[in-house]
Amino acid sequence: ERQEHIRNFSIVAHIDHGKSTLADRILELTDTVAKRDMQDQLLDSMDLERERGITIKLNAVELHYKAKNGENYIFHLIDTPGHVDFSYEVSRSLAACEGAVLVVDAAQGVEAQTLANVYLAIDDNLEIVPVINKIDLPAADPERVRKEIEDVVGLDASDAVLTSAKAGIGVSELLEQIVDKIPAPDGKIDAPLKALIFDSKYDDYRGVVLSIRLMEGMVKRGDKIRLVNSNAVYEVTEVGVNSPDPIKKDYLMAGDVGYLAASIKTIKDARVGDTVTSANNTDVIPLEGYREMNPMVYSGLYPTDNAKFNDLREALEKLQLNDAALEFEPESSQALGFGFRCGFLGLLHMDVVQERLEREFNLDLITTAPSVTYKVDLTDDTEIEVENPSDMPDASQIKSVREPYVNANIMVPSEYVGAVMELAQYRRGIFDTMDYIDDNRVNVKYELPLSEIIFDFFDKLKSSTRGYASLDYELGEYKVSNLVKIDILLNGDQVDALSFIAHRDFAQQRGNEITASLKKIIPRRNFEIPVQAAIGNKIIARTNIKAYRKDVTSKIHTGDPDRRAKLLDKQKRGKKRMKAVGRVEVPQEAFMAVLKTD
Ligand code: GTP
Repeated sequence: ERQEHIRNFSIVAHIDHGKSTLADRILELTDTVAKRDMQDQLLDSMDLERERGITIKLNAVELHYKAKNGENYIFHLIDTPGHVDFSYEVSRSLAACEGAVLVVDAAQGVEAQTLANVYLAIDDNLEIVPVINKIDLPAADPERVRKEIEDVVGLDASDAVLTSAKAGIGVSELLEQIVDKIPAPDGKIDAPLKALIFDSKYDDYRGVVLSIRLMEGMVKRGDKIRLVNSNAVYEVTEVGVNSPDPIKKDYLMAGDVGYLAASIKTIKDARVGDTVTSANNTDVIPLEGYREMNPMVYSGLYPTDNAKFNDLREALEKLQLNDAALEFEPESSQALGFGFRCGFLGLLHMDVVQERLEREFNLDLITTAPSVTYKVDLTDDTEIEVENPSDMPDASQIKSVREPYVNANIMVPSEYVGAVMELAQYRRGIFDTMDYIDDNRVNVKYELPLSEIIFDFFDKLKSSTRGYASLDYELGEYKVSNLVKIDILLNGDQVDALSFIAHRDFAQQRGNEITASLKKIIPRRNFEIPVQAAIGNKIIARTNIKAYRKDVTSKIHTGDPDRRAKLLDKQKRGKKRMKAVGRVEVPQEAFMAVLKTD
């Protein structure tokens, strides 16, 4: 029977341990893609993913594999991202699987996201197939890593597959283990339809296309379906699988992973995590959806060309469809005009959204520095929330300001505990507990201001622990802090989009740092530009950007025409990401300068 021959699995790994390369080898070995069509990292279909070598969005493909026992199997491989910001996407893909292949680098061993991701899989009761990859590397030590998987992760790794995804070693043994170890799906085929939406994307011709995992029942073209939470009814126009290009199928049945189109035009009807059932099935118990993810950080996105405001709104709406964690609402800035205040899961998420907007929707954007949400108690006994630092009221109206703290778990080999505590303490952390996980690993718990985490805490943590620390956190409570708003003045004018909030103890230092870095970033003009940092009316730091000695723009008007055209073109491209604020040209980088600390 067909269902017994289905295997649904994800690959989870720490970033760079070789997940995408291994997926490529699996596609090759199962003849899903002819070798000549093979492009590196085929599952990473977004340009952005290929360029950066990171996986952001999950992808599902169907593969056909003839096992050594002579039987033909259908594999559904669902790719997952490796970065903390996207653990939300990881849990989405895992919910559609019975098993997970855990890839660990044979030289690096178990690392931060190995733990975070494998625990998500264990929580979902998935069968885990450990793989030790990159055995071709001179520094590979598979036996040490095997022991680490057992001691640190707590999995039996005695028959972990040794692979080199790069050289194509061990991949067929892995396919055999997938058949043997990962259970087949077991949903009833003759029951009413019940399917989980784990991804969706907008297609101009077919409407919203849903990626679904069928838990029970069947679905085919012409069926009337209902999306349970949004209570919307549609007629199915097409079902199929990606292999990796879409292939239409007559039907999908319990255990299958595939896509469904039903001319769904209303983007908000097609929520990821919702359950699909048949239209006449009104008493279905919805599948457990996904935990709602709340944005952790907010920043302003502004088109460099103010006329593109509506294009930006449309683009954000489309992106939100397959990025449920993205939030946005309109805002305006004196310096930047009309834009949106957007909420993100973290800095990489913010970066990725900005880049997707620019590439996929052809927009040029200015992004302001990310900020957390502050709760402010005013002297008139009201409370307000401030998501944009420039909205922070005048100090005379403020009774107290509270900021969000997170409960952070930091897992680290015991030799680095000292370094972790020093960093956490400096970042205003409040020590909670410390427990030994095993002989050499410790779980240190701290309460830390979220604003400290979103700056560069993770990078600092990584560098002070040789990359071994794994950080995981959840939003905790708000606590009163001695915070002040620091304004930045360029050429005497306050630039609202450059304001930021800092702890009073660090205000002077931050004021000095930011004026110094703005001095480096902002291009010179033919007049001197004072750069100042202020708290209220009090200037706390000041520097000057010197004027040009001679007018270099005159150079453009001389020389041969080719060179002149090139220069002008270069200037034009450079200008794209600049915003004129008064008489000063402010490049994109300047708005992020506040993030850099020493
Ligand atoms: P994300 O998609 O960002 O999570 O990374 P990933 O885990 O998919 O890693 P990826 O497959 O992109 O591999 C990271 C790097 O390791 C690439 O430069 C690969 O060429 C290299 N790599 C992958 N497998 C092997 C291997 O078996 N041996 C060696 N020497 N290098 C490998």
